[in-house]
Amino acid sequence: MKKLLFLLITIIFISCKQEIKNTEAISPEVTSQIKADVKKSTIADKAMVVSAREEASKIGIEILKKGGNAFDAMIATEMALAVSFPFAGNLGGGGFMVYRTQYGEIGALDYREKAPLAASRDMYLDENGNFISEKSKVGGMAVGVPGTIAGIFAVHEKLGSLPIEEILEPVIALAKRGFVITRKQAKRLTHYNQVFLDTNKEPSIFTKAYKEGDTLKNSALSTTLSRISQNGRAEFYNGKTGEKLIKYLQSNNGIITMQDLNAYEAVWRDPIVFNYKELKIISMSPPSSGGICLAQILKLIEPFPIKEYGHNSVKTIQVITEAERRAYADRSFYLGDPDFVDIPVETLLSDDYLSGRMDDFSFDKATASESLSYGSIPGYESDETTHYSIVDQFGNAIAVTTTLNGAYGSKLYVKELGFFLNNEMDDFSAKPGTANMFGLVGGEANSIAPQKRMLSSMTPTLVEKNGKFWMTVGTPGGSKIITSVLQTILNVYEYDMTMQEAVDAPRFHHQWLPDVIRFEPNSFPKDSLKYLENKGYIVEEKKSTIIGKVDGIKILPNGKLEGGADRRGDDTAIGF
Ligand code: GLY
Repeated sequence: MKKLLFLLITIIFISCKQEIKNTEAISPEVTSQIKADVKKSTIADKAMVVSAREEASKIGIEILKKGGNAFDAMIATEMALAVSFPFAGNLGGGGFMVYRTQYGEIGALDYREKAPLAASRDMYLDENGNFISEKSKVGGMAVGVPGTIAGIFAVHEKLGSLPIEEILEPVIALAKRGFVITRKQAKRLTHYNQVFLDTNKEPSIFTKAYKEGDTLKNSALSTTLSRISQNGRAEFYNGKTGEKLIKYLQSNNGIITMQDLNAYEAVWRDPIVFNYKELKIISMSPPSSGGICLAQILKLIEPFPIKEYGHNSVKTIQVITEAERRAYADRSFYLGDPDFVDIPVETLLSDDYLSGRMDDFSFDKATASESLSYGSIPGYESDETTHYSIVDQFGNAIAVTTTLNGAYGSKLYVKELGFFLNNEMDDFSAKPGTANMFGLVGGEANSIAPQKRMLSSMTPTLVEKNGKFWMTVGTPGGSKIITSVLQTILNVYEYDMTMQEAVDAPRFHHQWLPDVIRFEPNSFPKDSLKYLENKGYIVEEKKSTIIGKVDGIKILPNGKLEGGADRRGDDTAIGF
């Protein structure tokens, strides 16, 4: 009898599943696997830092405990990541910060790298016009003019409260005493060991064989940071550090000159601000595509009841995928450096424009990316980045994403100065219509020009609910950044997840071209993937072992802070 009952329930369950749902979320096996990986939420009363490394979060918190604000902690955390997470943390790269002060003022800082003065549109093409993709990824030609040091000093000047020497002191000490290598770091360093040797043609602290638990000391970086602490921004852009950097670059095929360093400025920009239902979302403006794409995707999915469809159900996946496809198609055509191209931001985010973009979507069949281009506007003529979120005891909140672009950037390590250099030039469309390292196909708006900033996907984002600060969130992941931030916000808002559950939940990604949906492997039920394939979607499970490493902080109803530090990395939330 019992067996019969069981059989009956199973049959009903299977038939319901086939008929309705294929909108079922995750299978029980997958759910238990994810539960096993999930980290415990970190809860704090007043302040919190969440970053890719425990050392960096600790130093950020130390600054806050001393009475510093979120902006002081930003400087310390950014530099501590350069020491302890050289994979993406940097002095030789750039980034973006979005902030909201305790008084509700909002803003954004662009310290993105720039193309050198000697750069030109076709610098990565051979005489037959073919893209030599290696040139924009590895070695001196790949390097954009770094913006990070200008960024931290701009933050300090406008919003900081403690003296820079006091902020940098624990970072300098960390570089000197060293940081402990984690299992993930040891694996990565081993993987890139030979590449570092081949690129730099000399051994360095990064070409040694490391294992988990070893300590990596970087005395050269400690000396560089001490000089910056004493001499300020000019040390990097006009001083001894700059001179050493240029000398090194020029002996490695680079084209950046002292004139480029002298000319570099970080820029305060207006963030992209939009509403999704009752939320006000504040995200990064161009030259990042993050804010605009995030806004477009959220606005395109807003009319669909995705809460009812269920988290990661096939209907939800279809709606999000189709919205992503359309937003990324627009990204490739319209977006670039706003100081060089005219971006129709208002139109791209307007209800009029967006209301027509999903007209051809049907749950019955995938839209082919080839059949879809950017939307027409009448009259309009990388994985390796890192994110941190900070909320301080005064109520200031920031979201910062910073990058070298690829893992360890161009792989060029300036031994004398102790840091890696970016390969951000690959974020330009070296040949409009040809894919970059993230498979992103760009257009003329993102073509190379001297002093221009390359288009980014970085999406540091703040969210307000009922007029109050509610969440800070962001992630690395190259082109997958935008869709990871999107899913995290939806996980919290639509699916009532905790911040930790939201960052840990399995993710998927579509970016118009290539026309595939990437799923984190073994994280989605096979029958859902099969169902999507039957609808004409191309499903790819292997290429992206992980999609994003999201770090965020959410304000709980009782006013406490909940941190979400992604299970996929060594990310750590610390608060008090
Ligand atoms: N380099 C990755 C990005 O800026 O999107």
